[in-house]
Amino acid sequence: MTAPAPPTDPRLKFLWRPYTQMQTESAPLTAVETCGAQIKLSDGRWLIDGISSWWTACHGYNHEHIIEAMQKQLDDMPHVMFGGLTHEPALQLAYRLSTILPGARTPDALSHVFFSDSGSVAVEIALKMAVQYWRNKGVPGRKRFVAFQHAYHGDTTGAMSVCDPDEGMHALFKGAIPEQIIIELPRTADQMAAFEQLLMGGQNEIAGVILEPLVQAAGGMKFHSPEILTALREACRRHDTLFIADEIATGFGRTGTLFACEQADIVPDIMCIGKALTGGAIGMAATAANENVFSAFLSDNEKAAFMHGPTYMANPLAAAAANASLDLFEDGDRLEQVERIEDALRDQLEPCRTIPGIKDVRVMGAIGVVQMAQPRDIDWLRQRFSEENVWIRPFGDIVYLMPSFIIGADEMTALTGAVVNVMNEWSKRTG
Ligand SMILES: Cc1ncc(COP(=O)(O)O)c(C=O)c1O
Repeated sequence: MTAPAPPTDPRLKFLWRPYTQMQTESAPLTAVETCGAQIKLSDGRWLIDGISSWWTACHGYNHEHIIEAMQKQLDDMPHVMFGGLTHEPALQLAYRLSTILPGARTPDALSHVFFSDSGSVAVEIALKMAVQYWRNKGVPGRKRFVAFQHAYHGDTTGAMSVCDPDEGMHALFKGAIPEQIIIELPRTADQMAAFEQLLMGGQNEIAGVILEPLVQAAGGMKFHSPEILTALREACRRHDTLFIADEIATGFGRTGTLFACEQADIVPDIMCIGKALTGGAIGMAATAANENVFSAFLSDNEKAAFMHGPTYMANPLAAAAANASLDLFEDGDRLEQVERIEDALRDQLEPCRTIPGIKDVRVMGAIGVVQMAQPRDIDWLRQRFSEENVWIRPFGDIVYLMPSFIIGADEMTALTGAVVNVMNEWSKRTG
């Protein structure tokens, strides 16, 4: 076993870290072990994890059922290419997903599952699928997308193009990526009418509309109602425009139902899933399409085939982890746990509402958000949280919690207690 890296590890300079100003940001903490809802650091401390590794570890870390399934798969076949070959873990997973995704066993079902290795790539695939769908149908001009302010769909070029171009992380790339139609998420009757007009006028240009259902996550944890989601989906149906739901953040129970679309009783044409698909054990994502989309790729013409195929597509190890994660959703009481987390978040974050400088406190499912009026002292906040032995990473103007569903009641109280204490300190400090 190698010794834990000291805090000033000289090897750090070889790491280029995500979303990090490498000149000024302090050294990262070194994680050495994970268990349940906690992360152990090289200094021996255990931190209670408030964000379940970017919202992936829904069953907690190192769940024995997932580890066992992966260990078995590792012995049999860690990887094999997917072109011309298939395997049991992928066959099982595609079938099982088709039975639980919104619309399962109806004519609208999302029964055609295309695997990939990350959420951003699943979004790229959805966008490409929509463009090629129209090309295959003889409408090549339909190649632009409508997306929404505060959206975040990933960091690759196509995915960046449907993110918020101003408020998001990609403003720097304006002009270097395809320009899409980015509008305010319609909330009023007038805005909804304008959206309909846009779709009506764009029938030779717009390929699809892409939205994170109910929660725009990395763009600031902004919520919208199921009614808005239903209205947007129905407008797309009326104007023959593909509706793409990006459930990479919301999927697998996070908002209180297995998928957020269920709360609006809608089924998209194309849906992206990722993150918690493998229970946080290993990277995997998928893009699922309905029969109408899939059938547009069926032809005697080879060129009508969907032109995509990542090298590690449907990786058997990841598919085994995902199947094991689905077992845990079937056998466990995950949605009841989400309900309990929701109650705890509502109750325990409430004191933040009256802290000067706090603009909003909101909760949906296992997502709790404390929004600051001004984003100040984010590095100080991060430092203070880790001193409190919790792992919470504020960004932009929000401090948020998205814990593992198996988190214990005491761990939950420690997390929310840290948020209330540290935000009180922050408020006094920032005046
Ligand atoms: C809604 C949504 N879509 C796409 C992505 C990109 O996923 P990945 O980081 O796996 O590429 C994210 C990541 O936060 C996300 O929240």
